[in-house]
Amino acid sequence: MPRSSVGALLETPLALPLLHRGKVRDVYEVGADELLVVASDRVSAFDVVMSRPVPRKGEVLTLLTAWWLDRLRVDHHLLAVDPDQIERRHPELGENREMWARRAMLVRRATPMPVECVVRGYLSGSAWKEYLKTGTLAGEPMPDGLRESDRLPAPTFSPATKADPGHHDENIPFGNVIEQLGTTMAARLRKVSMEIYDKGCSTCETKSIILADTKFEFGLDGQGKLLLIDEVMTPDSSRFWPMESYVPGRGQPSLDKQPIRDWIEAFPDWDKRPPPPDLPDPVAAAATARYLEIFRRLTGVELDDWQPPHFGEDA
Ligand SMILES: Nc1ncnc2c1ncn2[C@@H]1O[C@H](COP(=O)(O)OP(=O)(O)OP(=O)(O)O)[C@@H](O)[C@H]1O
Ligand SMILES: [Mg+2]
Repeated sequence: MPRSSVGALLETPLALPLLHRGKVRDVYEVGADELLVVASDRVSAFDVVMSRPVPRKGEVLTLLTAWWLDRLRVDHHLLAVDPDQIERRHPELGENREMWARRAMLVRRATPMPVECVVRGYLSGSAWKEYLKTGTLAGEPMPDGLRESDRLPAPTFSPATKADPGHHDENIPFGNVIEQLGTTMAARLRKVSMEIYDKGCSTCETKSIILADTKFEFGLDGQGKLLLIDEVMTPDSSRFWPMESYVPGRGQPSLDKQPIRDWIEAFPDWDKRPPPPDLPDPVAAAATARYLEIFRRLTGVELDDWQPPHFGEDA
């Protein structure tokens, strides 16, 4: 198993059919209708996966997703995240437990919707770029005079295509979602996404965190039921800004990846395409500290002290 010297996990070699290896997750088939979604410690910056991992990152992403799903009243894919519960359901996984425990979710397999459901409350990233160019967001006109990182007049559904590996997701107007999925499904995705974002925002607010934007994925299960899938309101899928350092009119420092971004900026020659430069240990350690801090700040508990809840019928 490729592990770095600090005990982090770059890749899992489980003896199961590998359905997908993404930028962060190794997704395995377990039986006919379940998946084991294992979050590695791979980290990407500018959509390029770094050659060295950020220890404990995968655990933070998986357990934070479980923490949110335990609080949101929404149909979702998670069947089990507690390692004992996963092993009870699939004793054959017990042998390699140390490779996946606390970083894996056992989920209901779904057919993913072909759009990323992004909700934005603040003007940042690709939305800021679109606004600068055309004065719009997701194709809809926005008021004049907004600054980078400004709060939007109202949270906005801002869908994106799912890009192929090596490409960036592209923002699309809501009309494109209607064309692809029909009015009813498009409206439903927008409504559910906005509701979850709203709940996420108020939770974050109580921790003095701004949830500037976040991306959801949805899928249909075998019975045609719409489920929230993938990761949920993690630092990889969201922009979390600490309220105390929020200053509109400029980009906000990233709570999690800033040490990596700062370090990359010191390589003006790197064209942001593979192969990336090697992440030094102190930079990875600084990023780990950031991920652990986000977990602590959101949940109020240290990662090591947090016991994942039980989900589903054998909970
Ligand atoms: N319940 C589910 N059923 C089917 N697929 C799922 C489910 N939950 C998550 N996925 C898929 O698992 C993958 C997670 O991998 P990861 O997040 O590493 O990919 P990514 O790098 O974000 O994107 P890409 O899929 O483009 O590589 C995503 O493609 C996601 O759509
Ligand atoms: Mg992903």
